[in-house]
Amino acid sequence: MDILYIPVFILLILICFCKADDRLTPTKSLSSGDKLISNGGIFALGFFTPTNSTADSYIGIWYHNIPERTYVWVANRDSPITSSSSGKFVVTNNSDLVLLDSQGRTLWTTTNNITNEAAGAAAILLDTGNLVIRLPNGTDIWQSFYYPTDTVLPNMTAPLSPNNVYYKRLVAWRGPDDPSTGDYSLGGDSSSILQVFIWNGTRPYWRRAAWTGALANAVYQSNTGAIMFQTIEIRGGEFYITYSVSNGSPSMRIMLHYTGMVKFLTWNSKSSSWDVFMEHPSPSCDVYASCGPFGYCDGTEAIPTCKCLDGFESVSLNFSLGCRRKKELKCDGGDNFINLPSMKTPDKFLYIRNKSFDQCTEECSTNCSCTAYAYTNLTSLDMIGDSSRCLVWMGELVDTGKPIGGVSENLYLRISSSSANKKKSGLLKILLPVVACLLIVICIYLGCKARGQRSRKAQHKHKLKYLNGSNRLGKDTELPSVDFEDILIATNNFSEYNLLGEGGFGKVYKGLLEGGKEVAVKRLRMGSGQGVEEFRNEVVVIAKLQHRNLVRLLGYCIHQDEKLLIYEYLPNKSLDVFLFDATQKYVLDWLTRFMVIKGIARGLLYLHQDSRLTIIHRDLKASNILLDTEMSPKISDFGLARIFEGNEQQANTKRVVGT
Ligand SMILES: *[C@@H]1O[C@H](CO)[C@@H](O)[C@H](O)[C@H]1NC(C)=O
Ligand SMILES: *[C@@H]1O[C@H](CO)[C@@H](O)[C@H](O)[C@H]1NC(C)=O
Ligand SMILES: *[C@@H]1O[C@H](CO)[C@@H](O)[C@H](O)[C@H]1NC(C)=O
Ligand SMILES: *[C@@H]1O[C@H](CO)[C@@H](O)[C@H](O)[C@H]1NC(C)=O
Ligand SMILES: *[C@@H]1O[C@H](CO)[C@@H](O)[C@H](O)[C@H]1NC(C)=O
Ligand SMILES: *[C@@H]1O[C@H](CO)[C@@H](O)[C@H](O)[C@H]1NC(C)=O
Ligand SMILES: *[C@@H]1O[C@H](CO)[C@@H](O)[C@H](O)[C@H]1NC(C)=O
Ligand SMILES: *[C@@H]1O[C@H](CO)[C@@H](O)[C@H](O)[C@H]1NC(C)=O
Ligand SMILES: *[C@@H]1O[C@H](CO)[C@@H](O)[C@H](O)[C@H]1NC(C)=O
Ligand SMILES: *[C@@H]1O[C@H](CO)[C@@H](O)[C@H](O)[C@H]1NC(C)=O
Repeated sequence: MDILYIPVFILLILICFCKADDRLTPTKSLSSGDKLISNGGIFALGFFTPTNSTADSYIGIWYHNIPERTYVWVANRDSPITSSSSGKFVVTNNSDLVLLDSQGRTLWTTTNNITNEAAGAAAILLDTGNLVIRLPNGTDIWQSFYYPTDTVLPNMTAPLSPNNVYYKRLVAWRGPDDPSTGDYSLGGDSSSILQVFIWNGTRPYWRRAAWTGALANAVYQSNTGAIMFQTIEIRGGEFYITYSVSNGSPSMRIMLHYTGMVKFLTWNSKSSSWDVFMEHPSPSCDVYASCGPFGYCDGTEAIPTCKCLDGFESVSLNFSLGCRRKKELKCDGGDNFINLPSMKTPDKFLYIRNKSFDQCTEECSTNCSCTAYAYTNLTSLDMIGDSSRCLVWMGELVDTGKPIGGVSENLYLRISSSSANKKKSGLLKILLPVVACLLIVICIYLGCKARGQRSRKAQHKHKLKYLNGSNRLGKDTELPSVDFEDILIATNNFSEYNLLGEGGFGKVYKGLLEGGKEVAVKRLRMGSGQGVEEFRNEVVVIAKLQHRNLVRLLGYCIHQDEKLLIYEYLPNKSLDVFLFDATQKYVLDWLTRFMVIKGIARGLLYLHQDSRLTIIHRDLKASNILLDTEMSPKISDFGLARIFEGNEQQANTKRVVGT
């Protein structure tokens, strides 16, 4: 050989050894130590060993462009190559992929068995992480995406119904270093196409609420802003779910962890680690049916807790037996349905097709054993000729909840009419005229009494005007004390209809003052034990805190055991209403969000530093940020933590003072 050719020859050899290939053919197999690398260098396929043993035991796919070794697929998870042997991964003349050990025994194989295309079939590792067997004419006859192990990658289309030929659940690893089939699995419910479960063996461990149109086409956003889209398609009556990411997005994946948790992860190149941006079951009561029959997991609490559905009471202290009806159903047509908004639909429903809302209501109300129903539509799913989704429940309601965020809908619950107090029962029909007569008598009596009091009433009218703000500047800045009677009138006797919300310190009612001014009245829980004088002083001091990012205290009232605070009323509710609602969150564009953030910071600075007092809020959270009509934020509940320091707080410590 001419000496000049030697460098070229060496170069050719180098190229052969350095450029990793992305495919196997019948003439090119893979041995221990080799790997395939996808065309764009994103994924690698090869032999690996997850534990500290020295021999390669599994064939798997992992990220090639990420330093932390992360496996997304394992071929022979339940038949590892034993340490005494080395493996060989080949494409056969029958277009199959086969893993052989050193004795030539088959450890794992695909089952295409196509003989006529012998020469050209190749196994190719794609940049999506999919390993395909491709015929020379371009048809893929097998793909690893149809046989996932514990990971869903973007662009993978997974069938959700158990009847599908390709149906495979995700099955978790047995342990952190053990890829063999574990106990936890994730997949479509075998009795309804509308649900997804995680099972622990054969027992349900976690359940996703039944699909609604909005839930089906969901968008998940990671803390770093990467977005994952979920779409559900129906082909031939089967549901297929696909996750996709936008171009240039960091690596994202969904995996069923060996502990049974499903995790949505995104690669964070700054910290060089995987960030979890969603996981289920979330801590406390998200686990399947953990609140028992007719109990629900209230995720809107700072720490999610079990509660009983309206009209129910707990059977024992710890919810292991769930809840029972306060009043048994009569089933005489007098039962009633109440609407529980924002609920996760319970399990074990009947899915009745092609019904209108009224027909769905009818379906449940005419059958005595029907305890609840829910109605929404699946328009975005394009169900052939039927977008209705009527669910009815017979008997117990299990695994329901009140999640934070948009994955929820109205649940119509059957309760005894006497606890709903709406429909007339037979007895009521007799009682009603009697009560009406009594009322008239009382009205006449009250009318006379009121005439006598009119002069007294005029005395405190100036205080209401004062609250109305008309002549505020004319007076000193001392906070007005308001008469209890006026508050009773303004809040309709603390009517449930006026209830705006309930916090650890008590209930908040909407009030309408004479002259039409709307206020929010906070009725502090009784028996706080604090002395009247201290309360008055404290309130008067807080009243002097004035800042446009703090909710304005307008007045107060002390009446026997009652202590009430009167605040300005803010119609746009609180920040959490916007942040955690699937549609409302789009109202908050980035400019508005920035404005809200700055406003809260200004308010805090004032509380901590610029005001006359030093106040630590101790419970700053989205639900304590109210928004005015201009979406300008106002901190509420400030100073109350200070008022109620000490042991009187005990009943409310679940409000997480101190975070
Ligand atoms: C693997 O080896 C490292 C250090 O050599 C050790 O800390 C670790 O516990 C080992 N892991 C297993 C699963 O044996
Ligand atoms: C596969 O086909 C090639 C050529 O068609 C042949 O040389 C080879 O022996 C075949 N391999 C097996 C295992 O049959
Ligand atoms: C493949 O198909 C041929 C006939 O088409 C059959 O004889 C053979 O047993 C099959 N092999 C396997 C592994 O199924
Ligand atoms: C490719 O070949 C296979 C097997 O012969 C056949 O089933 C398939 O239809 C072909 N695809 C195309 C696109 O011709
Ligand atoms: C996923 O599929 C879409 C459409 O089929 C394609 O445009 C996109 O590039 C794919 N993404 C990846 C990561 O391959
Ligand atoms: C899963 O089931 C096994 C037994 O079937 C049980 O020991 C284990 O505690 C369960 N896991 C969880 C997280 O409940
Ligand atoms: C819940 O209460 C029941 C009876 O009241 C008791 O048998 C059970 O052990 C309790 N469970 C837990 C987890 O405390
Ligand atoms: C009520 O529904 C149950 C369960 O579907 C059914 O078995 C029963 O016959 C129904 N009763 C009436 C009165 O329709
Ligand atoms: C389904 O939902 C869409 C939008 O939410 C609504 O416009 C449509 O009327 C609904 N259809 C039915 C049958 O409820
Ligand atoms: C739904 O019901 C309507 C009439 O109520 C009927 O015309 C239509 O064909 C039904 N659609 C399906 C898919 O059953």
